[in-house]
Amino acid sequence: NRAGSVGRHLVLVGMMGCGKSLLGRWLGRRSGLPIYDLDRIVSQREHRSISALFEEKGELYFRQKEAEALRWVLSAPAGILSTGGGTFAFAGNRRLLLEHGVVFYLEAPVDLLEARLRKSRGRPLLASSSDRRQTLQELLGRREPFYRLAHVTISIAERSREELGERIWQTFC
Ligand code: S3P
Repeated sequence: NRAGSVGRHLVLVGMMGCGKSLLGRWLGRRSGLPIYDLDRIVSQREHRSISALFEEKGELYFRQKEAEALRWVLSAPAGILSTGGGTFAFAGNRRLLLEHGVVFYLEAPVDLLEARLRKSRGRPLLASSSDRRQTLQELLGRREPFYRLAHVTISIAERSREELGERIWQTFC
């Protein structure tokens, strides 16, 4: 085990649709470590879906709750942490994640994200978009410089979940 990762969280960051939650669950099973899905935690703490939270309270409120939930997770036993697509774009969150975790950026081309999100209804940032590809492209353009600050960048294109998961796990260990 790489001395540096002992006691640290394995953190997944990247755009919506890149597979953070599913891969997080896979890694949880593979490793036996606790699984933390930040959106789910926020949703549970606030007793409503992320979409409802955005609608009823606005994005700013969601970002505050997201930051609070992140602080809670980082004080809990180390595990596998799937973030939301925007989490790592905020400096305070980023500093904590880089300090307490080994951060993996799941890099994906916009076409792949768009295809995967085609049927998604739970993404408030896409809900009102008439051109999802364009919206994703803009979001990625703004966030990519931050995602690049992750400890490890790994491309998800043309890789199965098992292959990705195994690669990430071996890198973490
Ligand atoms: C968001 C991504 C979502 C969720 C919220 C905002 C974003 O998470 O946190 O809708 O800002 O990109 P996923 O990346 O799991 O879709």
